[in-house]
Amino acid sequence: MRIRVNINGEPRTAEVWPGASLLFMLREHLGLAGAKNACEQGECGSCSVWLDGTLVCACLVLAAQAQDREVRTLEALGSEGRVHPVQDAFLEAGAVQCGFCTPGLVVAVADLLARDPSPDEAVVREALSGNLCRCTGYAKILDAVRIASGRLRGGTG
Ligand code: FES
Ligand code: FES
Repeated sequence: MRIRVNINGEPRTAEVWPGASLLFMLREHLGLAGAKNACEQGECGSCSVWLDGTLVCACLVLAAQAQDREVRTLEALGSEGRVHPVQDAFLEAGAVQCGFCTPGLVVAVADLLARDPSPDEAVVREALSGNLCRCTGYAKILDAVRIASGRLRGGTG
């Protein structure tokens, strides 16, 4: 079936089988590999993208459900030669080890800080509870959120 979808502000089309997930379409048909495929069961958050502005696990959404809708992915963050402040904060805090969880976490943190620029730790933990990281123990991820929050509010972080 043919899917028409707006991705990161651009109209795109893909020919997929009816059972294909949004994640599969993004990665295998449209060359957008930012969203990772780790569990394919909605358990890890590594495939997080925005669908009509709401964070979803792309592995749990059918490509067909994205028909004529707006999808925003990790690739929309930052710009040519300049990383997004959340990405920069992850690097500065040392919150990236194997990196497999990082794209989903960056998307989730960007989503959180767009809604709540100064979240307390309980709010951050709740917001990121769907994003699993097997490497960092989360402390450096929380540091990264604090740095990004400061930067996005115009402080020094
Ligand atoms: S790959 Fe989608 S939640 Fe893990
Ligand atoms: S850095 Fe390896 S899973 Fe998070």
